[in-house]
Amino acid sequence: MQAGKNKIIIANWKMNPLTSKEAEKLFQHIIKSVSLVKRTAIVICPPSLYLAKLRKFSRKILLGAQDAFWGEGGPFTGEISGEMVYNIGGRYVILGHSERRAGGETNGEVNKKIKASLTAGLRPILCVGETMRDANHSYFNSVKNQLAECLDGVKKDLIHKVVIAYEPVWAISSTPNRHDATPADSLEMTIFIRKIISDKFGAEASKIRIVYGGSVSEKDAGDFFKNGGVDGLLAGKASLDAKKFIEIIKICEASSR
Ligand code: PGA
Repeated sequence: MQAGKNKIIIANWKMNPLTSKEAEKLFQHIIKSVSLVKRTAIVICPPSLYLAKLRKFSRKILLGAQDAFWGEGGPFTGEISGEMVYNIGGRYVILGHSERRAGGETNGEVNKKIKASLTAGLRPILCVGETMRDANHSYFNSVKNQLAECLDGVKKDLIHKVVIAYEPVWAISSTPNRHDATPADSLEMTIFIRKIISDKFGAEASKIRIVYGGSVSEKDAGDFFKNGGVDGLLAGKASLDAKKFIEIIKICEASSR
């Protein structure tokens, strides 16, 4: 990891919890335990409905949305723009998550959302990852295509704001018959991603943080930091359990010493 680049722990709460009261409780629980955290950026991405409420409780924990539309405003029923997310206090946005891609979201749409989010002042967390691995290693190509198409036309001077989350779909907790990705799987892919982005963006690419996501837990977080080549982790299921999530943050913090 480049000197001066803080590690990052991201929570993707997905469509949880069911009430804003529960969201507040989970958030407060996490706040209480992170006062001594200095070297780790903590980003929580709740359902956007809860952003306005949660932003009042902490400056230390940064908030993000789980998607933001590319249109600036107008006739886009049901959508929320990057500018709206920013105005309500969000600073990050997860884009291109595999659960959205499974619903039909294309690289082209993700690309438009990335550019619009950057214009709005947000830091996009671009999710890439293959659905399965094959003996011919064609999964490298699918990640390469995702990167090429999603980052097409992104300006060099803004690229440092992008976080890339490598999330192999076969390792995500909600994938049927999932199995664990190892830190070695993560290392091989993060090296590959670094090569692709440095070919495209030159020296600026070294400022991009690459994180791993896919059933991250407090049990394997240390190993991912040590051997996975990552600048951070993105947790879904584990982020809904305050104790587990706090443990992951502490492991990250300890790994930066
Ligand atoms: P998971 O989710 O940690 O529950 O696998 C990660 C994600 O889908 O972003």
